[in-house]
Amino acid sequence: MNDNLHQLRCFGCGARISGAEAQPDFRCVECGDLFEVEYPGWGQRRGNDRPNPGALKWLWRERRCSSESLDQSGVWRFRELLPILDSFGDAVTLREGNTPLYPLFRAAKALGIDQLYAKHQGMNPTGSFKDTGMTAAMSVAKERGFEWVACASTGNTSAAMAAYAARAGLRSLVLIPDGKIAWGKLSQAMDYGAVTCQLKADFDGCLTLLTQIVKEAPIYLLNSVNPYRLEGQKTPAFEIAEAFDWNVPDHLVVPGGNLGNSSALGKGFRELYELGLVARMPRISVIQAAGANPLVQSFANSKGAELAPVEAHTRATAIRIGNPASWRKAARAIQETGGWCLDVTEAEIAIAKAELGSEGLGCEPASAVTLAGLKKLRARGDVGSGESVVLVLTGHTLKDADYTIDFHRGTLLKEEEKAGVEKEIEALRRNALQVDASVGAVLAALKGSAR
Ligand code: F0G
Repeated sequence: MNDNLHQLRCFGCGARISGAEAQPDFRCVECGDLFEVEYPGWGQRRGNDRPNPGALKWLWRERRCSSESLDQSGVWRFRELLPILDSFGDAVTLREGNTPLYPLFRAAKALGIDQLYAKHQGMNPTGSFKDTGMTAAMSVAKERGFEWVACASTGNTSAAMAAYAARAGLRSLVLIPDGKIAWGKLSQAMDYGAVTCQLKADFDGCLTLLTQIVKEAPIYLLNSVNPYRLEGQKTPAFEIAEAFDWNVPDHLVVPGGNLGNSSALGKGFRELYELGLVARMPRISVIQAAGANPLVQSFANSKGAELAPVEAHTRATAIRIGNPASWRKAARAIQETGGWCLDVTEAEIAIAKAELGSEGLGCEPASAVTLAGLKKLRARGDVGSGESVVLVLTGHTLKDADYTIDFHRGTLLKEEEKAGVEKEIEALRRNALQVDASVGAVLAALKGSAR
């Protein structure tokens, strides 16, 4: 690791340590808070390490035409802004990042917003945004000579970790809550050869246990408490800024679970701003499921100063998290950009997911909270019609096909959850039909489903 260029700064007490001094659980020995990576050279006006904005923008675009694997990664293409490795040749990459930014025409029209986009992180190699963070932190694990890596997960982190570990030739250990993760994700961890342990605990319990395990065995922790994960996960901010020709959108809407992603995107935009690559930061809003909303409660009760863990319940299993590790970092991103933190119901999530599906994109339930949240922000008048908004879709629709099928079959939601929005749901349902194998029967089915 390149400890000359970066150091770790405690988010709580400001203590600074070198990367090599980090504890196995990545907590500060002084105050127990998390670290973030900082690059001291950037702070010096005439410092040799301070990047040159114009040259960088040109270089990053040029790399898109390169056939080098590092350049083809949407993370390492921006490597000047994450100099965390001794040698970039050590990077473990699956050509992650460079994900599409799709215009959402129908949703924009329905909401009366001029410019609405989806940054589809589900289009990453293992189908979620976790790949961008995993390439960074797995590369550090490899440079540090670890044989084993591990994570607690609601599914996507484990899928990404298992794949990148396999590519790096490392062994991986996954702790997941028994029965509470989507099959698509579980199947990936198995396929990529992880030792997968299903525990009678929720995500928060799995992470607590793993924190104890890594203190006793030489296993590298790859949850987003690991600050190198966030260095990779900040790069979609660079892609978005680049796609807007370095004019950043007005508003970014992100799902909130363990709150690493919103923290990382906040860091990405902050660094672009501080380095003079963009003139401002977008507002960053974080949306949680109503049954797993500790950060929403924190903002309601203490303006984001304290967080009381909750017992989490939501069918959006990816964000079924009651005690988010990175909540302070996420609260900072919301506060410094003037964003909001709000929650959405199970029915609102299901409707938003079906609406995104009907635009030909699709995503997993946890990603759909972004559209559901934006609808609320628009209804409250917090988002104006002339604003440009980007929804961060975090996972691929095939991750959780059961959820989608249950929705279209009409078996997903309970009656009380659907109260008041039954018609909206019925209009979106497209259940598969049982039809006789005859021309007449198929044509009759067509007639019956005319819009
Ligand atoms: N969306 C998806 C699809 C996720 O998998 C996650 C988190 C989130 C949103 C929330 O992101 O935790 O950074 O706030 N999944 C983790 C996992 C917890 O284990 O896969 P966050």
